Amino acid sequence: MKADLLIRGISQLVTAEGPGPKRGPEMRRLKIIERAALAVADGVILWVGPEADWAGEATATVDVQHRAVVPGLVDPHTHAVWAGDRLADFDARVAGVPYERILAAGGGIWSTIRVTSAASHDELIALAKPRIDALLRSGATVIEVKSGYGFRPEAEIAMLDVIRTLAAGTPARIIPTLLIHVPPAGAAERAAYVSDVCQTLVPEVARRKLAQAVDVFVEKEAWSAQEAERILTSAQQHGLAIKLHTEQFQRVGGLELGLRMAALSVDHLEACSAEQVASMTGSPTIATILPGVSLHLGLAPAPGRKLIDAGAAVAVGTDLNPGSSPIFSASMALGLAVRLNGLTAQEALVAGTVNAACALGVSDAGRIEPGLPADFLVLQGADWRELVYTLGSNPVREVWIGGEKVAG
Ligand code: NIG
Ligand code: FE
Repeated sequence: MKADLLIRGISQLVTAEGPGPKRGPEMRRLKIIERAALAVADGVILWVGPEADWAGEATATVDVQHRAVVPGLVDPHTHAVWAGDRLADFDARVAGVPYERILAAGGGIWSTIRVTSAASHDELIALAKPRIDALLRSGATVIEVKSGYGFRPEAEIAMLDVIRTLAAGTPARIIPTLLIHVPPAGAAERAAYVSDVCQTLVPEVARRKLAQAVDVFVEKEAWSAQEAERILTSAQQHGLAIKLHTEQFQRVGGLELGLRMAALSVDHLEACSAEQVASMTGSPTIATILPGVSLHLGLAPAPGRKLIDAGAAVAVGTDLNPGSSPIFSASMALGLAVRLNGLTAQEALVAGTVNAACALGVSDAGRIEPGLPADFLVLQGADWRELVYTLGSNPVREVWIGGEKVAG
């Protein structure tokens, strides 16, 4: 066997095995190879095994000196493009004003929409690029980025153009999503906006391939399940996948809609009932939980433990955004899922790799396996569990994408 590169000196190579999604107890099954090596050819994994078994030749060798290697992380939910800040909201919330009340009064998401939709393409790139870099350094090699702070259809397209430019300027794989975030005031205005989204915005996004999925925020203070169904049906008719922000504060039918329409994922789920948890058993739809929101807003965490025990496939994302989750680290999101949502370290790794990839409809990321892109992380320490144990310092020493070291 002839490799371009051999990574040796790996204390433990840890990965989920085989395609996802992994559900229930499958989420605890990891392949762990002690004293491992990893061979790469043409940016793709050629061979993985105990170092003593490597019998091929490699043009170059890198010794990682007894450090653990895990797959590149997948962050399946971010709002990394925004302008302005939400520091006044933060002060108000610390003083006891709820997030939904700030939103209902025209602040919150609306204040970010006002500033973001007025910013230029270049301003938005300059603001978002360091956020993508931070997520990448934290271990994310695949990053979903949503629009949703444009509001007017032209401004949503402009946000997706920004995301496309960001994608061209980073080694990370960026997966763009059109987010239909909050409705205008007034019943007639809402209906007109939905029609415009279905008849003009979604078709243009599909035609220009500006997004892979459409996401709708279903919530008492946002869209109803009926409105979301119209938007998501139009998305599917135009060949786009669908996902939902749902059960964040109230239960208004979003989760049921997502399961019925075979959404890639239903995200948030902090307000999920026991019956809704049970309804996700064996579902192809991924339950994406976002522990940064629970931490930042002080909400009850999504029932991650219960979802896994019920046999659901759980993914974890940062939800990086200025209002509900200013968490710039994919590895920290996994560490929070262990502390707040009751996942084990093993489950968190699966939730942040192979299952998160499935939540984006991506089948060739989140695993270290021959034939897949050579996207992997060299950790600081010899025990992979430091990935979810460490808080406030980066447990990731090096990030490799397509067999190239891109950070560290
Ligand atoms: O995922 N819940 C709605 N959307 C975002 C928050 C966006 C914001 O507050 O700016 C979320 O939490
Ligand atoms: Fe979100």
